[in-house]
Amino acid sequence: MLHSLQLTHFKNYTGQGIALSPGINCFVGLNGMGKTNVLDAVHYLCLTKSHKGLPDKLLLQHEAPFFRVEGVFDTDGERHKVVLKMPADKRKELEVNGTVITRLADHIGKFPAVMIAPDDVDLVQEGSEERRRYLDSTLSQISVEYLQHLLVFNNLLKQRNALLKNFAAQRYFEPILLEAIDRQMPRPAAAIQSERFAMVEKIQPLFQELYQAISGGREQAHIELVSDWPEKIDYYAVLRENLEKDRYSERTAAGPHRDDMAFLLDGYPLKKFASQGQLKSFLLALRLAQYEYLRLEKGRAPILLLDDIFDKLDSLRVKQLVQLLLEREVPQILITDTQRTRMEDVMRDLSTDFRVFLVENGALT
Ligand SMILES: Nc1ncnc2c1ncn2[C@@H]1O[C@H](COP(=O)(O)OP(=O)(O)OP(=O)(O)O)[C@@H](O)[C@H]1O
Ligand SMILES: [Mg+2]
Repeated sequence: MLHSLQLTHFKNYTGQGIALSPGINCFVGLNGMGKTNVLDAVHYLCLTKSHKGLPDKLLLQHEAPFFRVEGVFDTDGERHKVVLKMPADKRKELEVNGTVITRLADHIGKFPAVMIAPDDVDLVQEGSEERRRYLDSTLSQISVEYLQHLLVFNNLLKQRNALLKNFAAQRYFEPILLEAIDRQMPRPAAAIQSERFAMVEKIQPLFQELYQAISGGREQAHIELVSDWPEKIDYYAVLRENLEKDRYSERTAAGPHRDDMAFLLDGYPLKKFASQGQLKSFLLALRLAQYEYLRLEKGRAPILLLDDIFDKLDSLRVKQLVQLLLEREVPQILITDTQRTRMEDVMRDLSTDFRVFLVENGALT
């Protein structure tokens, strides 16, 4: 649980500190005031990246010499102070309890978080990259090894594609160079693939249960991992088989970097056939399944960040959703809305501790 948060020159926050409730924290204010920025700061502390994957320098307040985000977390009664700071002209630095952490990968997953935001619709509308990100950001929080395999694989892939391009440009081919890379790729590739398959399999029942609870509909929701190389087939063999094709197209045709997820309602693609309401329910279920899965694997509840949830649902449905979250014992929630009365109406009827912060031009009261 996040106990307190301190922002300095972070986006539109010059200097701001707040103490959070262990229950529900509501951030209300007009458009552009800084509600999402607060949630993003928490995301940043937990995952060392902004939710949208913005480059760090865009998080620096205009003209400011540095930014700093500090959070004090409470994990099983232990306090942990996490500080991420970045001078304008240098890389960011992470400190946990006063010790500098050089490998950010070691930090990711220590304080799990899940964000539900309006741009989740990209999961359905955009290309496969978004869906891989859903898998990767979940698995990276669960296993440092997964993240490492991913980094290693991406690096090898980059080298391989550069080599293929180079061969084509120079009109020559040196099989040994390529082979040296191809020999290293199967290990991380297989690890990534098996973790992804395992995750989708485990998340499926959670997801289906949540979809039913949210939509109340009778349709069957289903997710699948779509991979263009069969599980348990040696990736090296795949690379060799595709060699001519890859040389011709100057890139690597098959592999974990092409994995995708299929989203289905009664067997039909969500993107083409779902109603607006079904789409919203599907996305919420997908995110909450991610939350539940993280909690299960980590044995600890992530922080839930709900951005502009009223944009997706009417007040009654939001109330039902928050009720569902409380029933499922989601402890800490940070939620944003533009209307204070609407937010308070929803919260008042729920018997839980909640705190309301008014957000006005980078000031929280
Ligand atoms: N690097 C930066 N430096 C200063 N201000 C910034 C920076 N990045 C973003 N902002 C400001 O932050 C504000 C946006 O904040 P945020 O997205 O949190 O708003 P919001 O309250 O969530 O609004 P909405 O209700 O429209 O979603 C804008 O005014 C934007 O100009
Ligand atoms: Mg916002």
